[in-house]
Amino acid sequence: MHRLNNKRILLGITGGIAAYKSAEMVRHLRKAGAEVHVIMTPAACEFITPLTLQALSGNTVHTSMLDPKAEAGMGHIELAKWADAVVIAPASADFIARMAAGMGNDLLSTMCLVTQAPIYLAPAMNQGMWLDVATQKNCETLTNRGVKMFGPDEGYQACGDVGPGRMLDPEVILQMLAEQFDTGLLAGKKVVITAGPTREAIDPVRYISNHSSGKMGFALASAAAEAGASVTLISGPVNLETPERVNRIDVTDARSMYAAAMEHTENSDMFIGCAAVADYRPETVADAKIKKDPNEPDQTMAIKLVRNPDIVASVAAKENRPFVVGFAAETNNVIEYATDKRQRKNLDLIIANDVSDASIGFNSEDNAVTLVGPDFEEPLTKSSKRLLANQLIELIARYYNETSEPASDHATDVS
Ligand code: PMT
Repeated sequence: MHRLNNKRILLGITGGIAAYKSAEMVRHLRKAGAEVHVIMTPAACEFITPLTLQALSGNTVHTSMLDPKAEAGMGHIELAKWADAVVIAPASADFIARMAAGMGNDLLSTMCLVTQAPIYLAPAMNQGMWLDVATQKNCETLTNRGVKMFGPDEGYQACGDVGPGRMLDPEVILQMLAEQFDTGLLAGKKVVITAGPTREAIDPVRYISNHSSGKMGFALASAAAEAGASVTLISGPVNLETPERVNRIDVTDARSMYAAAMEHTENSDMFIGCAAVADYRPETVADAKIKKDPNEPDQTMAIKLVRNPDIVASVAAKENRPFVVGFAAETNNVIEYATDKRQRKNLDLIIANDVSDASIGFNSEDNAVTLVGPDFEEPLTKSSKRLLANQLIELIARYYNETSEPASDHATDVS
């Protein structure tokens, strides 16, 4: 079921006794990590209440195109574009007929006309209705248009008949749905990523920081989510929108980033330290703004700095450590220093970034890096951070999947 993790499923429910099974479907979908929105036809509301589906899906249930409250949350066009897949279960004979005719006379049928997402129907009706030549013809029309049928099942029916027309069990529908998605390379994995700079306060208005924009880390978070992972992005102060399907945690200084990283890497599978963490912070932070002496124009000032915790090395030193990937921002001897950092910090992989070139690295749109492992170096040529992140996540995930045991071949240095 990992394939459903992070997927956006729009569940359509039409009027039929099998509508009660939809509640179970929503529960299973959520358990599999999918995000679920529900559209019910007016007839479906006669069999099960929208409130039940709302409680189970965690989202407002959509029942009418003319409901200003639901449309204000996510309008039907947005909903149609949002979905990775549309599942209509149960799909009644009436709904199948309306869909085959291309009608848009309620919210669900209109949404089916708009969406580009694949549509799956789980028919549920009396065996006579299912076997009727009109229903069969309608199903053939829809199948020819690319709509897929899940079922129906055969057996005892609510009306007392025996034959084909029963809705498949929710677990079977879910299994069939899961098989429609490619296995993402990180499907079902929990990935924690740090991004951006940290700010180390000097006084209430001043701080020490660096030029990291967060672009590289955010692009990695987006690519990891795209690969099927549940992603937690721990970000320093940046001016970027949270990537879709990513859980973002904002922090300010190195110690709060450290605390968040230690907490969220419990039971995680992978950690990628992309943040430009300040190695030092002022030993003391002044309570009030530090004033200069107007009578001493040559006055100097010294700030004593103390070391910050090394986040990536501390995660790598955990007893139940995830697979750990670090970055090395270097201006000279890039590969040599990166290799040394990988070993000292006990990292599985490190990404060497030559930041002496202003067009790659801090606050640039593009980047070029070398992925360094225990026995390989893989240079990735200059491209946008988004494309580079996709390449990196693919390489990292493949290596991770091949070597499930984390590296433990080196001493750990968390100083
Ligand atoms: O944010 P952008 O503008 O897109 O720029 C991207 C980037 C240049 C910041 C990114 O590609 C990058 O190189 N990030 C690592 C920056 C860095 O601090 O490198 P470092 O060589 O000083 O640190 C080595 C590793 O230790 C890094 O994984 C870093 O996150 C980690 N570290 C460092 C210090 C510390 N106290 N804790 C850490 O976890």
